[in-house]
Amino acid sequence: MDRHVPVLLNEVLEALNLASGKNVIDCTLGDAGHSEEILKATSPDGKLLGIDADAESILRAKKFLYEYGDRVVFERNNFEHLQDIVKEQNFQPVDGILMDFGWSSPQFEERGRGFSFAKTDEPLDMRYDTYLKCVHTADEPPLGIDGKPLYGKCTAAEHVNMKSAEELEEVFKKYGEEKLSKEIAAAIVEKREGYALETVGDLVDVILEVYRKKLKTEKEVPWIGGIHPATKVFQALRISVNDELGVIERVLPQAIETLASGGRLAVITFHSVEDRIVKHYFKSQDKKLITIITKKPIIASDQEAEENPRSRSAKLRIIEKM
Ligand SMILES: C[S@@+](CC[C@H](N)C(=O)[O-])C[C@H]1O[C@@H](n2cnc3c(N)ncnc32)[C@H](O)[C@@H]1O
Repeated sequence: MDRHVPVLLNEVLEALNLASGKNVIDCTLGDAGHSEEILKATSPDGKLLGIDADAESILRAKKFLYEYGDRVVFERNNFEHLQDIVKEQNFQPVDGILMDFGWSSPQFEERGRGFSFAKTDEPLDMRYDTYLKCVHTADEPPLGIDGKPLYGKCTAAEHVNMKSAEELEEVFKKYGEEKLSKEIAAAIVEKREGYALETVGDLVDVILEVYRKKLKTEKEVPWIGGIHPATKVFQALRISVNDELGVIERVLPQAIETLASGGRLAVITFHSVEDRIVKHYFKSQDKKLITIITKKPIIASDQEAEENPRSRSAKLRIIEKM
């Protein structure tokens, strides 16, 4: 399995103002590409707390960071519990925090989670944290829109098989800006009357059928300006399944609270809605609790964008705790 290539690596290292002995939290450890360089820059005694919701990411990161021994503390958890984790691990003072949202390349390409519409045989899962289970009891209703308290627990298959047409339409619109949200939601509800949609291919087939009908074409895949018709629905489902915007909103205040005075927070987003949340939150706290270091987000150089396509949508924002 190829290792994930960290985006904006040099920019992140510079952003965090690293030096020997500094303690850093990586909220999205992944394949530990950023973390490994952070450990080098804080050697010999700086510590790193590496958090990831995905047990397999933690296992891989342990292998990559083996040589750093007890300088690293691993935590399989959702970063939305940041303050509790820091307390339990007694990890203080905190000089730097990194967040690099979304999926890692092995998760997307090779781990059978159903993140990619191209992997038609994979189960429709899309959770980062596969430990959580979708439990329905008489007292706990199944899914509302982003149905708290069930977010993050239900697979994408459970979402598409259980949500109402209206709820699905809203998810596709809100998180994917999918133009055919209504038609796709209606087609899903019709299809699942016969059998449950279980695989990536089951959902892709429904989406392609809707597009073929709309565009009056027989083409197997009616590409739209080079984009696969399932792209937006898959993005929307992943965001909804993991409540990706909600966790960002909840973690940012905790990160600022957790930082020591003069500590730095570096946040990388890959989506305009994510970036807007970060930008607005930072603005709301500027000159009160923090100083904004990046008036405009840092983006990848031409060379990085060329070498690593994922970096093309990356935006890095940095603040310093007052
Ligand atoms: C883009 S990857 C990080 C890559 C990493 N910086 C590297 O250099 O390899 C994002 C990671 O964050 C994890 N993740 C996503 N949402 C999370 C959440 N709410 N809590 C904890 N981890 C999460 C994913 O499982 C994934 O491993």
